[in-house]
Amino acid sequence: RTTAVILAGGTGQRVGLSIPKQLLKIAGKAVIEHTLTTFENTDSIDDIIVLMAPGYVPDVEKIVAKAGFKKVTRVIEGGSTRNETTERAISALGEGLAEGEDRNVLFHDAVRPLLSQRVIDDCVSALERYQAVDVAIPSADTIIVTRTHGEDGEFITEIPDRSRLRRGQTPQAFKLSTIRRAYEVAANDPNFQATDDCSVVLKYLPDVPIHVVAGDEYNMKVTQPVDVFIADKLFQLASTATPEQRGEAAYRELLTGRTVVVFGG
Ligand code: CTP
Repeated sequence: RTTAVILAGGTGQRVGLSIPKQLLKIAGKAVIEHTLTTFENTDSIDDIIVLMAPGYVPDVEKIVAKAGFKKVTRVIEGGSTRNETTERAISALGEGLAEGEDRNVLFHDAVRPLLSQRVIDDCVSALERYQAVDVAIPSADTIIVTRTHGEDGEFITEIPDRSRLRRGQTPQAFKLSTIRRAYEVAANDPNFQATDDCSVVLKYLPDVPIHVVAGDEYNMKVTQPVDVFIADKLFQLASTATPEQRGEAAYRELLTGRTVVVFGG
């Protein structure tokens, strides 16, 4: 059984609207409605739970009712950080589980409305072999590591080899028992700090391999005001382009290391 967990507990400070960005309308629909539509229409997903920003649960319930989403079983409030929202989802999912029973969970940012069904299916397939799965794309930008020296500002300490760097997206997919165990161990760490869920597994269950599935350049996170504009344009393109035109095959090959062709140098 595979459950999609839609993380929508944030308020979108960086976009800076008066409503959470997941409720903003892009290409005629609320961002979260686009996201839910993709999961609803993907056969490998059995059910969906949504964790929404406090005070906005009724807005999501209205969207779900109006769109007639049948897989959405619960809409509950998220926590005060993304990881707290994940933890709430884990306990909500654990309630209905019998002793020894497990299931697949895919945690997805509500504010990545352009996720493709291909990425979801690849995550679900990967969970047949692995307990933890991340989704990533190669980095076009050079990534630098810096340190701040007081008033003099930032200085470079390292420039990692770009060919090994990836930009993490979502979904992040796990066996429920694995992600639950990772958070149980993390609960004993007074210095716990994370912004995603794979890093919790990486740090607290170091023996669990985390498999990487090829993401998609379209699967952007609406984070800054400019992203609203870009997402709108991408929806226009997504409705016409084939996966080949969108360059999906190239990303997959790059990530699986089967190609030596690198764009742009
Ligand atoms: N998220 C969540 N619970 C939180 C914070 C974030 O479920 N307490 C979710 C967001 O709703 C979003 C995803 O995590 O779908 C990615 O987070 P981000 O883009 O940082 O969203 P916000 O926290 O809303 O944005 P900002 O940091 O600009 O306030």
